[in-house]
Amino acid sequence: MANTLNRRNWIKSSALMAGGLALASGTINKLAAMPVVNKSRLITNFEAEREIMANAAPGLKARLFFNENPFGPSPAAKKAIIDSLDLSYQYIFPQIRQLSSKIAAYEGIQQNNVMLSAGSSALLEAAALHYCKGGKTVITGETSYDDLPSHAVRGGGKWVKVPLTKDYKLDLDAIEAKIDDNTGIIYICNPNNPTATVVDTDKLKAFCERVSKKTMVFVDEAYIDYLPDPKSTTLMANVKAGQNIIVSRTFSKLYGFAGLRCGYIVAQPETISALSLYTNADANLSSATVAAAIAAYQETDFLKDALAKTLASRDFLYATLKKEGYDYIPSSANFVMFPLKMDGQKFVGEMMKRGVGVRNWKMNGTDWCRVSIGRMDEMEAFAEAFKQLS
Ligand SMILES: Cc1ncc(COP(=O)(O)O)c(C=O)c1O
Repeated sequence: MANTLNRRNWIKSSALMAGGLALASGTINKLAAMPVVNKSRLITNFEAEREIMANAAPGLKARLFFNENPFGPSPAAKKAIIDSLDLSYQYIFPQIRQLSSKIAAYEGIQQNNVMLSAGSSALLEAAALHYCKGGKTVITGETSYDDLPSHAVRGGGKWVKVPLTKDYKLDLDAIEAKIDDNTGIIYICNPNNPTATVVDTDKLKAFCERVSKKTMVFVDEAYIDYLPDPKSTTLMANVKAGQNIIVSRTFSKLYGFAGLRCGYIVAQPETISALSLYTNADANLSSATVAAAIAAYQETDFLKDALAKTLASRDFLYATLKKEGYDYIPSSANFVMFPLKMDGQKFVGEMMKRGVGVRNWKMNGTDWCRVSIGRMDEMEAFAEAFKQLS
């Protein structure tokens, strides 16, 4: 864990050293405005994930811990990376504009509603630090993705956790009931990580319309591309309607860019300028990544193909679990949660010994496993190892 935090600080300080001479004074002011973060150690699933990532053995038969897409990036994205190399000595402001205008045109919003970053994580962090400063609270589901609330707590904020419904969905009514004068932000992960459940779209839209009059709502749509019709589920229309909400997206999942690092938020322009005090946002993007993202954005054939392969692997996993007598939560994303019949850590360790990386969770006092959906050969490796343990 210490490594994780140290690595983060190291990245920040070396970026400062490397960029020191070239930093515009505006950037220096932004960095000076960053709050002092309380670095108390916090053991969360998010930090555990970082730790596992850092130590993941190379050469695993199946890398099923991080909800990555092994079918990406697309051939067009790879070609764009290679083509971008000759001019990679140049800064890329026009290309960043080109990418954000492509996103804005597709979503029917203005370019000043879009904030890009090297992955969406930095934007989750910025929102946590801004909206929870001064001891404000973040309200989340329990269990949900804990990156944003972890940063909130590190920044001195408080974290209010609201149990999921019986069918493992975010309980919007219970979340709304927790709002008080000290609420800084509500974090809604839809589809939710790690349960892979979605909330009813109309209900979420109405929730955001109401609640955003009292507090900021952050809707994390990292996995929305795995739904049959993301356009009908997204909360972009609520941003367009001028509401006080932030919608985040990432290229790390269906686009297969987890290592390339590209994500963005869509929000009101004043929200974006407030968050720009906490992050260098698009200044951290590389020319290779931006070129790849321009080539890959809404590349329908590739996305459909990656989705079809993911769903085939997911069906295979469902069949494997059923065959071995296990239940699972039906998934709306590229991962599946199922309850274990043994200690979670022991299970993960035994699977790892067999070359299969998966994650474990404690939820409602039960041990659960989260399996990311990989290539079919990876799912077969999972099935083979699982049979030996079930
Ligand atoms: C729900 C959710 N949001 C955000 C992220 C962060 O993604 P990235 O920083 O790669 O864009 C993840 C990563 O797994 C995630 O699961």
